[in-house]
Amino acid sequence: MTINTKTGRLFIENKAASDVAKEFGTPCYVYSKNSIKTNFNRFKDAFGERKNLVCYAVKANSNIAIIRILADLGSGFDIVSGGELSRVLAAGGDPSKTVFSGVGKTHAEIHYALEQKIKCFNVESESELHRISTIARELGVEANISLRVNPDVDAKTHPYISTGLKENKFGVDVDDAMRLYKIAAKLPNIEPTGIDCHIGSQLTEIAPMRDAALKMVELTDALIAENIVIDHIDFGGGLGIQYQDETPIHQELFVKMLLEAMGSREQEILIEPGRSIVGNSGLLLTTVEYLKHGPNKNFIVVDAAMNDLARPSLYNAYHHIDSIIEEKNRPLKRYDIVGPICETGDFLGKDRDLCVNEGDVLAIHSVGAYGMTMSSNYNSRGRAPEILIDDTRAHVIRDRESIEDLFSNEQIAP
Ligand code: LLP
Repeated sequence: MTINTKTGRLFIENKAASDVAKEFGTPCYVYSKNSIKTNFNRFKDAFGERKNLVCYAVKANSNIAIIRILADLGSGFDIVSGGELSRVLAAGGDPSKTVFSGVGKTHAEIHYALEQKIKCFNVESESELHRISTIARELGVEANISLRVNPDVDAKTHPYISTGLKENKFGVDVDDAMRLYKIAAKLPNIEPTGIDCHIGSQLTEIAPMRDAALKMVELTDALIAENIVIDHIDFGGGLGIQYQDETPIHQELFVKMLLEAMGSREQEILIEPGRSIVGNSGLLLTTVEYLKHGPNKNFIVVDAAMNDLARPSLYNAYHHIDSIIEEKNRPLKRYDIVGPICETGDFLGKDRDLCVNEGDVLAIHSVGAYGMTMSSNYNSRGRAPEILIDDTRAHVIRDRESIEDLFSNEQIAP
């Protein structure tokens, strides 16, 4: 992580957060290029010479500048919509290193992905198999498919982001997978080339990941015994990061576990990490508008809100918040940090001990993943800009949305 404190001031690489706030205003998202590269390379280094493809999960942070950084490092991509595929292409990403996940791929999205010759569809239902076959036949092409298998393991994470249980909407049942592969093998213009799973996000325990990996490997052997010869196993994403006091699984340990599960099998290994590459590479800078002292609670009202960062409201997620100038030896007071939106759920942090004045700038940490991509225009608030720091340089990779932008697609009816 290259976000550090020097002389009591917060730096992103070699750029002071205070300078970023001054130059670009707040709220604004700030990312460290070096941190993103380091996190990606940790996966690559752990694989060494072993045949692998790291498919960055675009949904975590889909800014085309971020996609370009990863494309330049040889990354593949995991997409879940035609929109994400367009972003990958616009950023110079390689469609032949792109896999397409998601339970609801539309006719148009499948058509587009086939035209662009993506590496593989991670198929989530029997109906989807038939749909892909029909469209591939119309286009006269072969569609490579993996079945996303639901291994029925408890990922032990927040229920909203757990995906590998029988009751979840994702994937096909592990006990039904063989039947579906046999159907796939006979369908016109369908080529089963892989197998796929993803059991959840923000995972901090390796045991469920190992259980899922072993089930995938076992199923691969069973497929080969039936002459369905697949060339890759996709183990999904999900590696957690430290937001508060979690102990994340190191990239190297995760890859080592996969290599052990694979044994001497030679299929290409795919993974789909999102959060573990960008999560701790981003900050949200926000200015204190008002301090408000109530009978039971004190509030810091800031200029960022749940529309900029939905995770606290949506999952009660913790994001560390501190002042960008160190508060050494100053008396602390307990506050809720809230935005200006007209909802009680509009909070960014609760019961935090801080010493701040109106006009100070605060940093909300670990927002590089599922921050900007989950933002909205609620309360007619323009989205924040995104700034990429590269050593001492700051590049605007997304402009602040103007008020005109917000209703440029609207018309008054006659
Ligand atoms: N592959 C698939 C098929 C996925 O559904 C996801 C995330 C990933 C890969 C990447 O997982 P990661 O490595 O980032 O954990 N909005 C939630 C997270 C939702 C994750 C959805 N799927 C949050 O803010 O925590």
